[in-house]
Amino acid sequence: MAEVTEALRRQMREELPEVASIQDAGLRERVVEAWALAIARSSWRSIRDIPPAGNPGQMLLTRGDQTDHIRGVTRLAMRMAEEMAASNPDMPIRHDIVVAGGLCHDIGKPWEFDPENRRRWEAAPRATGLPSIRHPAYGVHLCLLAGLPEEVAHIAGAHSGEGELVVRSLESTVVHLADIGWWTMALAGGIVKPETISAKYRRPISL
Ligand SMILES: [Fe+2]
Repeated sequence: MAEVTEALRRQMREELPEVASIQDAGLRERVVEAWALAIARSSWRSIRDIPPAGNPGQMLLTRGDQTDHIRGVTRLAMRMAEEMAASNPDMPIRHDIVVAGGLCHDIGKPWEFDPENRRRWEAAPRATGLPSIRHPAYGVHLCLLAGLPEEVAHIAGAHSGEGELVVRSLESTVVHLADIGWWTMALAGGIVKPETISAKYRRPISL
């Protein structure tokens, strides 16, 4: 396990430049810290080394890397939030939570996609679980470890199927829809490898 260094923090700011849109300086630095921890505690050296997939081996893009998805979902969520706030000034939508939540929604992926973890889990699934912890739950762990507020940890934990078991916050709803929308559009636009399309995105007639 590597240490979190200033160089790694700088690298995270460079790989996820949308972090600069977070107005609260403390929140901004905690997002950077959480991502630096996510990488330091994995065998990856960069978010750009992680394959651009929704789950390991599923919904794999034909090009790019994991930052393309994370940044795309964040920008999509920001634009949806901007539209809803502009046309509904009384809607209590928090810009900073949307951006931090977008950037952190898949922060558990370095863990779930880690080749060393995959090998360990696949060797003895009934001993370890496969995976032992999915990325939304591990993402909650990292967010809280880095001192991020529960609103952001909630988005990491509830962005995927796990969120069907709870009531999603307003910002969590925006990020969840941005994530689903991003994958649905990626599929419709022909940038998902056909053999990796997961069941929930399959339709009798292809999207
Ligand atoms: Fe995602």
